[in-house]
Amino acid sequence: MTQLSRADAEELRRSWDVRQEPFLPHRDEAFAVLADAATGRRALDLAGGTGTIASRLVNAEVTLLDVDPVLLAVARVALGDRVEVVAADLGAPGWGVGLEFDAVVAGTALHCFGPGRLRALYAEIHAVLAPGGVFANADRMPEGGPVASGDDGLAGWHEWWAKALAHPALAEAARGRVDGGSADFYPPASWHLEALRAAGFDEVEVRWRREGTAVVVARRTR
Ligand SMILES: C[S@@+](CC[C@H](N)C(=O)[O-])C[C@H]1O[C@@H](n2cnc3c(N)ncnc32)[C@H](O)[C@@H]1O
Repeated sequence: MTQLSRADAEELRRSWDVRQEPFLPHRDEAFAVLADAATGRRALDLAGGTGTIASRLVNAEVTLLDVDPVLLAVARVALGDRVEVVAADLGAPGWGVGLEFDAVVAGTALHCFGPGRLRALYAEIHAVLAPGGVFANADRMPEGGPVASGDDGLAGWHEWWAKALAHPALAEAARGRVDGGSADFYPPASWHLEALRAAGFDEVEVRWRREGTAVVVARRTR
């Protein structure tokens, strides 16, 4: 079987980053805020894709979790041994059983879930955090008007997937893909703060905002 080379994995990750920017304006800045928020020894990059955020968590033992076998395959090779890469479906409870972290971060990802599942997921994230642990979420969180669609990025995104799925070393992973779709749920930051409090987090705040992109941070104090 053809192995994915480090060079090809890094190129796929670099081009993924370029393709993702229209879906999260100011992505680089937002992810720097996530990385700063992620203090502690053990960090989890939730729905981490090809590993953009995980690669920034340089002072922690990092786990990347995602459901997509192609993205996981790229992340495994691009990130190397420094990051543990695990497959799990956040759409169902149970993904966090037996896990414990000091920080959990998510970027451009939790809009995939509708309000009911996201509330439940926030409680599950609370449960995997050690006391004192921090959760940070970067996504589009519009105040007022409707969220920009990011549709101007769709052509590039389709092009990225066409290239990845045609790579001989990713053929087996491609066959294992299940497209669960996205709820495209983009509530304002105030919704996230309320849902995080209801999930058991004691300290919640909007740590950073630029236009429609924001980072909310929540701490489990006990
Ligand atoms: C737009 S990408 C963002 C990936 C990465 N955080 C980044 O910013 O580059 C959304 C990610 O959510 C993941 N995802 C969607 N539904 C998921 C689920 N049910 N369980 C785990 N991951 C999921 C996708 O596979 C994808 O990696």
